[in-house]
Amino acid sequence: MMNNICYVVAMRAEAEPFIKKYGIKEVEDFFAPLPCQLYEGMVNGMKLSVVLNGQQHGSDLVGCEAASIATMAAIQKLNPDLIINSGTCGAFLANGAGIADVYIGNRAMFHDRRVPGDDAWSTQSIGNYPVWEGSKQLAEDLGFKTGKVTTGSSLDMQPCDLKMIQENGGELKDMEGAAVGFVCSLFGKPVLYVKSVTDLCDSGAETFEEFSRNLGKACEALKNANERIIEHLSAQR
Ligand code: ADE
Repeated sequence: MMNNICYVVAMRAEAEPFIKKYGIKEVEDFFAPLPCQLYEGMVNGMKLSVVLNGQQHGSDLVGCEAASIATMAAIQKLNPDLIINSGTCGAFLANGAGIADVYIGNRAMFHDRRVPGDDAWSTQSIGNYPVWEGSKQLAEDLGFKTGKVTTGSSLDMQPCDLKMIQENGGELKDMEGAAVGFVCSLFGKPVLYVKSVTDLCDSGAETFEEFSRNLGKACEALKNANERIIEHLSAQR
């Protein structure tokens, strides 16, 4: 039963619409000296926490390192029943994706860790982490598409990234998902991925321009999806 759910979100823009919607409040310095920021409140009798990665050098911390420490700090200090990694992603026209589509992740892998050696090394580097067992049912109940989250440290996509993504069935390209999945796997914490599409990796467009242009629309769709997910999880209690 979900009494205590915790979002881990990289960019403030991705979380702001639902922080506002639920009126949850910042708990200052909760994770000090880490830059992560906590927003907390109650929704339908359920504790709702949102952990932002925080900032360094004047911008929101994206990427695996920040996501890992935020997830670890969140688990150790809040001990939630469920981690929800919510954010934006790139996706593929070839898989039928469109801008501001919201997906539920069904697995999470890394696509930019090229480690030679035997199967054990390559298995470890690709990760291929599991998701919360209720993810599929939730996607079915609420009518979301599902896909495999594929994570790397760059916004662009090099040909070797695409090869790894294609060989391993990656669909939702982000910069945090598998890092969150890695930490959750170490703690045995279930993780739900909610990803909204800002750009299409095979559209031929310049990624950062496409991402920036669609960020607001994708974050609005993410907020609407998360509202429905929170309602759904609280109704199951
Ligand atoms: N977040 C949003 N779009 C992305 C992309 N194309 N690659 C990685 N992270 C993203």
